Formats: sequence, structure tokens, C-alpha cells
Amino acid sequence: MKILGKYPAVRLRRNRKYNWSRRLVAENNLTVNDLILPIFVVEGKNKIEPIKSMPGAYRYSIDKINNVTNKVNKLGIPLVAIFPHTPHKKKNSLGTEALNEDNLVCKAIRRIKRNNPDIGVMADVALDPYTIHGHDGILKKKEILNDETVEILSKQAVLQAEMGCDVIAPSDMMDGRVGVIRKALDKNNFKNVQILSYAAKYASNFYGPFRNAIGSRQRSKINKKSYQMDYKNSSEALREVALDIKEGADFVMIKPGLPYLDVIKSVKENFKIPVFVYQVSGEYSMITNAIKKGIVDSEAVIESLMSFKRSGASAIVTYFALDIAKKISN
Ligand code: PBG
Repeated sequence: MKILGKYPAVRLRRNRKYNWSRRLVAENNLTVNDLILPIFVVEGKNKIEPIKSMPGAYRYSIDKINNVTNKVNKLGIPLVAIFPHTPHKKKNSLGTEALNEDNLVCKAIRRIKRNNPDIGVMADVALDPYTIHGHDGILKKKEILNDETVEILSKQAVLQAEMGCDVIAPSDMMDGRVGVIRKALDKNNFKNVQILSYAAKYASNFYGPFRNAIGSRQRSKINKKSYQMDYKNSSEALREVALDIKEGADFVMIKPGLPYLDVIKSVKENFKIPVFVYQVSGEYSMITNAIKKGIVDSEAVIESLMSFKRSGASAIVTYFALDIAKKISN
């Protein structure tokens, strides 16, 4: 007879023993419906340019955009986000190229909606791809002007909606912009165009590779701390989210991802709105480089995405979207 009481009656390892039982008790799952793919676009023809700062990511000229959106369509990724690499000569201090109906983003929206009408298209509202200083708003005497910027952003939003954009995503962190954009969209009969507000966007050190990708990186580091959030804070993120919901946001974004899992979780617990997360370029490049060097296994990508699901995210903007969609649909 065995001695009773030596071991605990509850053994959590029992459920982990087999693959089938691990699958039965899985609390979270990642599907293709959780993914949003950013697409970088560039001027010119016949271009699929590798981005040095982001190994495995590319910039597409408009005529080549099919190449990626057909894959998105086939894999069933619901939404793509367009980011333009604006040539330097089209930038100025006010970012007026943002309002040009033939700018790269507008062309990309039209092209995707024509070729793959079933894919949702999202575009950022912010001036950083178009300003020479790389800031998201108008710079005057070292200050980013709030209300003047919001006025331009609401025009940018309406223009993008006119092009067929489904989801308008203000990523500028100006105060009051969601309300003004909502009003402008409604006034122009775009009642059904959704707003994904980057509600809690932190002044982060993880955006570097993206700034290279869109050509907004400056010789000296750009400091966006007067409008993007301080990484010391989390209650403030709840205030940002509360305001954006009141102003009419349909979903809210937390950005970056991995260093802000606590914020995703508390936003989800406090508001019953869909929460999206942006796994940003620095996270992407760090993980990609670590996999390349054999420091971590490639499954680390899924592990990182699953952490967002655990925290309560409904969807994830990630440069891994194509790869992962392929992997999980097999
Ligand atoms: C700016 C913007 C940024 C990103 C998307 N839109 C960064 C910034 O504030 O400079 C970063 C995305 C990434 O790093 O992947 N409106």
C-alpha cells in the first residue's frame, strides 16, 4: 500500500500531459481574425523594397500593392493599415501633402478598394509622414499646436474617407481630435466610417525602425513627449480612453504592445470597448533579429501575440501578420 497524503490531490500537470487535453483547456487562441497588417507604400513603379531597419518587411509601389493585398485576401486577414514613405521634396513644415488627394495613402486606399473590396482599409491620421520635422502636428516656436493641428487632421480624415477608407485612425495624440473628426465625418455623410483612436500612445523608444521605414527619422532623436504619453503612467491611459470613447471612438488602440500589457488589461477591464494593440516596429525588429541569430525560437512570435490576447486585446497590428496567418491557417 502506498503512503497516503504524501502528494497533493490536485496535480495541474494532468491537464498538460497530452496535446489533446492542452488544446481542450486552452484559455486563449490566436486566429487570422485577430490580425491587422501594416503596409508601407512608396512612390515609383515596380518596387518591392526591403526595409533595412525591419528585416522581412517591404515597401510597395502602388502598382505592386496587389502583391501583398492578394495574399491578405487569400489568408482572410480582415484589415490592413497604410503607411506612406513620402519623398522629402513633398514635405514641408505644415505637412500639406496630407491633404493632397493624390498622395500615396489616397492612391493606396483607392487601389486596394478597387482590387480587393472585401479587405478593410485603415489609415492613420497624423502629419508625421508629411512634415519636415517629423512631428505629428504643426510646430511653432518649439510647441506642437493642438487646435490648429486638429483642424488639418479633420480634413485629412474626411479626405481619406472620400477615398474609401473604412477605418480612420488618429495617431497624433492631440486633445479633442476624435470628437472633431467624428463631427467632420458625420457632416460629410461618412456616418459609417469607423474611428480607431490611438487612445494610449506612448512616447516610446520602440518606434525607431518605423521612422526609418517611412523616412521620418531625424538626425537628432525626435522628442514627442509633449503630446504622446509618459511611460511612467497608466491611470492617465484610462482618462485618455474615457475621453476618446465619449468623443465617439469605435475602438481604441494601445501602443506599443509588449511593454504595455498592464495597460491593455486595465483598459479592457474598465471599458467594454474593443481594445486593439500595436506591436510596433522596435518589438518586431528585436524579435526578428533574435530569431535570426538563434537566440530565441521562432515560436516566440506567437507567444508574444498570445500575450496580447491574454491581456484582453481583440486585434493586433503586427508586421508578423502575413507570416503568422500562414502559419496558423495550416
Ligand atoms: C506616428 C506613428 C508612429 C508609428 C505609427 N504612426 C510613430 C511615431 O510616433 O513616430 C509607429 C509604429 C511602429 O513603430 O511600428 N503617427
